[in-house]
Amino acid sequence: MNKTILITGSNGMLGTTFRQHQLLEDRWYKVIYTNRNMLDITNLSECHSFFASNHIHTIINCAAYTNVEKAEDEEKIPNYQVNTLWSTNLALCAAQHNIRLIHISTDYVFDGSRIDGNNENDTCWPLNHYGLAKWLGEENILRICGNHGTIVRTSWLYGGWKEFKNFVNTMLLLWQTKPELRVIDDQRWAPTYTGDLVHAITELIQRNTFDQPTYHFCNHTPEWGITWYDFAQQIFLLTQNSIPVHPIPSSDYPTKAIRPRHSHLINNSNIILPDRKNGLQTYLTSLQVIT
Ligand SMILES: NC(=O)c1ccc[n+]([C@@H]2O[C@H](COP(=O)([O-])OP(=O)(O)OC[C@H]3O[C@@H](n4cnc5c(N)ncnc54)[C@H](OP(=O)(O)O)[C@@H]3O)[C@@H](O)[C@H]2O)c1
Repeated sequence: MNKTILITGSNGMLGTTFRQHQLLEDRWYKVIYTNRNMLDITNLSECHSFFASNHIHTIINCAAYTNVEKAEDEEKIPNYQVNTLWSTNLALCAAQHNIRLIHISTDYVFDGSRIDGNNENDTCWPLNHYGLAKWLGEENILRICGNHGTIVRTSWLYGGWKEFKNFVNTMLLLWQTKPELRVIDDQRWAPTYTGDLVHAITELIQRNTFDQPTYHFCNHTPEWGITWYDFAQQIFLLTQNSIPVHPIPSSDYPTKAIRPRHSHLINNSNIILPDRKNGLQTYLTSLQVIT
């Protein structure tokens, strides 16, 4: 019988990419995609009855609270409810039904003090409420699920449809509406195309070795990360859109949430994602912005 994989949060950017690519289906897995209306992960009894009636082999938890700014004040509680408390719901269900739980997490669990990036087992020290809620969720999952729990950290995602809110889509929109742009140039990240992340997670499931509790899956970025300003320039270079782009320090763009300055994740596994430029090119081609 085909193994069944549950993907939660399937209307989100990453969940949508799983549906677009159908890679798990291509490898003969049966995939159940749920959104909040079909399976609200905040409802423990709903979760238990779902797992009792569906024979799930692996969960890929793409459901999360992701508004980093609102998580600082007006939506602090939903942030902890979904990212900490309710991720724990899934962990409890997974442990009870002997299911592998692959949980997606973030570079925001680190404080960004390491210029050369963070390894999978480096000490976490989140700077904002979103990062803290995600880290507590990670800890609970690994504690409850033991070696059936797997954390996949990633950073700065873009992908899905052009309607999704991500940096690449924002730049493509602003290009049409603004005469010039000012973009932050003092925070370094590894921007990651969701299509490449979906490939890496599919490979992880297919290999079935799970030899690390935590994986760092980001597009390969050799220079210890890239700034938003550099990445904006690459977007406009590839799309041949000429617009003046000016570098600014993050102090010129105040935000409620403090973000790590150096957020490059080091991937020590043998599943390597494509180069950053390759990821961007593939996404722009999928949007039919370039050929
Ligand atoms: N986006 C990034 O740059 C980034 C970077 C690093 C890590 N990550 C992590 O990657 C994962 C996927 O992110 P994403 O960008 O795809 O997020 P997203 O687009 O915001 O999608 C999250 C999904 O979770 C669903 N959800 C929220 N609360 C739920 C609940 N109580 N029950 C069921 N579903 C619920 C949302 O449903 P509704 O649509 O109904 O609200 C939404 O579809 C998350 O774990 C995120 O923390 C993201």
